[in-house]
Amino acid sequence: MAEVIIVKDQAQAATLAANVFATLIKRKPTAVIGLATGSTPLKVYEALAAQVKAEQIDVSNVRGFALDEYVGLDKNHPESYYSVINNNVTVPVGFTPGLINTPNGDLATIEQAGEVYETLIRSSGGIDVQILGIGTDGHIGFNEPGSSLASRTRIKTLTQQTRQDNARFFDGDLNQVPMHCITQGIGTILDARQILLLAFGENKADAIAAAVEGGVSSFCPASALQLHPHATVILDEAAASKLKLKDYYTYTFDNKPGWQSV
Ligand code: F6R
Repeated sequence: MAEVIIVKDQAQAATLAANVFATLIKRKPTAVIGLATGSTPLKVYEALAAQVKAEQIDVSNVRGFALDEYVGLDKNHPESYYSVINNNVTVPVGFTPGLINTPNGDLATIEQAGEVYETLIRSSGGIDVQILGIGTDGHIGFNEPGSSLASRTRIKTLTQQTRQDNARFFDGDLNQVPMHCITQGIGTILDARQILLLAFGENKADAIAAAVEGGVSSFCPASALQLHPHATVILDEAAASKLKLKDYYTYTFDNKPGWQSV
């Protein structure tokens, strides 16, 4: 099972996760990091940018790979994951833009795009640390329920639930949310040497309970992390609220059964 850490708030989660990346980059300046979009990791990127600045860490040789991209959405659209990663990660942290990759969602080359991305990740030496959010339906990347646990980067159809969840990024207009995406597969994600999955809020509690304490099943793609040797799940109390083994997990704040300073 994944290690579970329950934190006081998102700021504490951000500090923890950013420190994992910063420590890696200091040890290995050519580190390869896996990036997620969505709202969950935003504070991590802010914390990493602050730490990189404060400690003057050289990040110019770090390579990065985003998990996914919408298919058919112009790369320069503000909600393309290319733009989101560039604006929220590459620029603020100071990564070298040419070393930070997103899958190519261009329709003209979409048939080869999955294999091209897999080859690029492989030739980089593989991802050292991958950050993940989780969908309310248990997806990781855009591997919706039913995705093969051995899947590699490929085109997927977004579920109605995910499109509704993401409509908030498109002026609340479901019609603007693309139908398809290209996403790293669950097999691709499991190849990362270390994985950090973050989740906040009560609306993630069911997905987290299924992922952490349910059976390993393609119907909860995040449950595949139970197969990974070095996966950590960082939660606030609301996202952790439906876990049964709460007393066994690590807490980062006082008066909790498994309190530990992390
Ligand atoms: C993003 C991604 C998705 C999100 C998930 C949670 O690249 O692959 O799996 O991590 O949909 O989204 P938020 O963080 O917006 O709740």
